[in-house]
Amino acid sequence: MAFQDEINRRRTFGIVSHPDAGKTTLTEKLLLFGGAIHIAGAVKSNKIKKGATSDFMEIERQRGISVATSVMGFEYNGYKVNILDTPGHQDFQEDTFRTLTAVDSVIIVIDAAKGVEPQTEKLMNVCRMRKTPVIVFINKMDRPAQDSFTLLDEIEEQLKINVRPLSWPINNGPDFKGVYSIYDRSLKLFDPSIQAIEQGIDFEDISNPELEDHIGDDAETLREELELVEGVYPEFDRANYLEGNLAPVFFGSALYNFGVQELLHAFLEIAPKPQPATAEERVVKPEESGFSGFVFKIHANIDPNHRSRIAFIKICSGTFVRNNVYKHMRLGKNVRISSPTAFMAEQKEIIEKAYPGDIIGVPDNGSFIIGDTITEGEEIHYKGLPSFSPELFRYIENADPMKSKQLHKGVDHLTDEGVAQLFTSQFNGRKIIGTVGQLQFEVIQFRLEHEYGAKCRFEPLQIHKACWIESDNNQALTEFKKRKHQKMAKDKLGRDVFLADSQFILQMAQDEFKDIRFHFTSEF
Ligand code: G4P
Repeated sequence: MAFQDEINRRRTFGIVSHPDAGKTTLTEKLLLFGGAIHIAGAVKSNKIKKGATSDFMEIERQRGISVATSVMGFEYNGYKVNILDTPGHQDFQEDTFRTLTAVDSVIIVIDAAKGVEPQTEKLMNVCRMRKTPVIVFINKMDRPAQDSFTLLDEIEEQLKINVRPLSWPINNGPDFKGVYSIYDRSLKLFDPSIQAIEQGIDFEDISNPELEDHIGDDAETLREELELVEGVYPEFDRANYLEGNLAPVFFGSALYNFGVQELLHAFLEIAPKPQPATAEERVVKPEESGFSGFVFKIHANIDPNHRSRIAFIKICSGTFVRNNVYKHMRLGKNVRISSPTAFMAEQKEIIEKAYPGDIIGVPDNGSFIIGDTITEGEEIHYKGLPSFSPELFRYIENADPMKSKQLHKGVDHLTDEGVAQLFTSQFNGRKIIGTVGQLQFEVIQFRLEHEYGAKCRFEPLQIHKACWIESDNNQALTEFKKRKHQKMAKDKLGRDVFLADSQFILQMAQDEFKDIRFHFTSEF
């Protein structure tokens, strides 16, 4: 197949939701269509079940699962679909944000009864920041739901995006009869007893009285509501969707596999193929012949005896070929990748070639960190993998003096993996771990002990926010660092970080030092 056709047929996307809205169920149903799995229930939920076991044991269990489900690739109707999994637990949202840097579009799942939830908003903020096109799937229509127009209003207001329904539900809960697909002008009837893929009944003209034969009195309501939909929402405009300004909306029930195929078909037609990627130097198009890609995720192997890791590389341009010599930009040295794996169906397999939009897994023992770029030789450094300013901070101390080397190494590896961020105080040289959630501290402690044989202790540290600082005015920078020397730290890459005690102090510093730029993500 021609290179351009390989690009055109790829769809690389993420499914996100507030926990419990149905992300796992929808993912599973999509995989069933792709023949990637054959039985329902095969995709293990990657959410942390509350109270089941202690949280970090649960995390360990999941790490086993999540290597397998990190990327789920399958072939469907001539398309190559790559679904990137994202962690459900909010303490790992940074992981989710990073994964979103490797997708070309997103499907957001919303619970029809609960509407927009806090996590949905945060995820949408990231999509908006990156102008990622989103499709909304309103799930659980088989249960009592909020009024559809109210839901759409809520999405527009809270997610700050225009919407355009492409299907419309006929009732909900026990009276749910199905949806009318505005996208392909057909009626899809819901029958909870069969869970088969719904066959659409063509209804080009919904004023056709035959509609009554199928849905009785609800036909009239449907006609009225559709008229309202057409009156209120402008025609679906794909360009608008691709720019991230308009979200098409579908209704269904993932559990009953209802509305899922319709979503998949529309998605494949309208969702973007692999998009250009922005590097510091220039914008790189997928069609370019020179291979390039970046590491967006590192996954430690679950076997504690082999400390190998898998680096996940998103291919941005050109064709990746196994065993070719590529350049590792940060290290400035050549690398040869001899056993890259693709994540197809249920198995991981060694691949010879991969194309833009694909993700490859590369066994690694420490040469990659998140954000690394590899290319065929050109100096390119991909952007868009910011570290977010952490919200919780602790000093990390060695609790076993005999194992300080192990601790050092473990902390180094885990922070490379993106489990948390590491800072070193410029004042007292102590190591500080910064996270976005409490669970990450537990993960670090647990994994240091089980994978590195090291013990650590955390000591409380009251910091409101860490921010990266820079300035063109060297004098101001020196003055600032002198004045705040007790609160200055370096990040892993040696950049200056200011640890502000409170919002008030931060504000004061910003007011006083106008020449200094304060950044709340590490990328600027
Ligand atoms: P998540 O990944 O977004 O966290 O959600 P997940 O798919 O795990 O779904 C959360 C719960 O909602 C599950 O029930 C799931 O069966 C249910 N669910 C998902 N889609 C639908 C739907 O369309 N209709 C209905 N009625 N329920 C749906 P659970 O009891 O919490 O989990 P489980 O024990 O059944 O796995």
